[in-house]
Amino acid sequence: MKFFIDTAEVAEIRAAHELGLVDGVTTNPSLIAKSGRDFTEVITEIAGFVDGPISAEVIALDAEGMIKEGKELAKIHQNIVIKVPMTTEGLKATKEFSRLGININVTLIFSPLQALLAAKAGATYVSPFVGRLDDVGHEGMEGVEQIRTIYDNYGYDTQIIVASVRSPLHVLHAGLIGADICTIPFAVMKQLAHHPLTDVGIEKFLADWNKAKA
Ligand code: E4P
Repeated sequence: MKFFIDTAEVAEIRAAHELGLVDGVTTNPSLIAKSGRDFTEVITEIAGFVDGPISAEVIALDAEGMIKEGKELAKIHQNIVIKVPMTTEGLKATKEFSRLGININVTLIFSPLQALLAAKAGATYVSPFVGRLDDVGHEGMEGVEQIRTIYDNYGYDTQIIVASVRSPLHVLHAGLIGADICTIPFAVMKQLAHHPLTDVGIEKFLADWNKAKA
């Protein structure tokens, strides 16, 4: 399973990159706003050191506007993936980007049928938001399982990015289901590395070592 990092904070991306954990990056308008930086500048900086897909989201709500914005974003670097929302206008834009050979990530997916439509329109990636579904009492990962089944049934090569990840359990389930990618906040990525028994084990090894040497 590939790991994307879900942030627009360049320092976090660099830190995860040093750990060898960054196969790609996803951003969204909220994350860019949180970074307090200029959109194009941040995306350009990320593209300078990450060798993988970098999702940059359009703001327009109509297909024409999305295509216009997307074409500009795609000029930044060959790894830029245009993120469009899962709406009928987003599907129109997806079809056009696909025709132009520009990679697309259809975002804000909350049902398997939305993911089916996105695949039919030619999406390179779909982003089901599991955490936001969990927040409203639905099993987010169930939807991912259904998307996997539908894509496998019909041989769609659209890749599933498990998004809105809140905990290591989301990552575990994504792996068990066979999602292609999990886009993970840096804090969760760090949690994945830790286990209290590893810390206890290290302490015990060192204590035994020091005792034997005393
Ligand atoms: C995905 O590409 C989105 O950027 C992200 O996963 C949204 O997550 P949130 O629900 O934590 O905002």
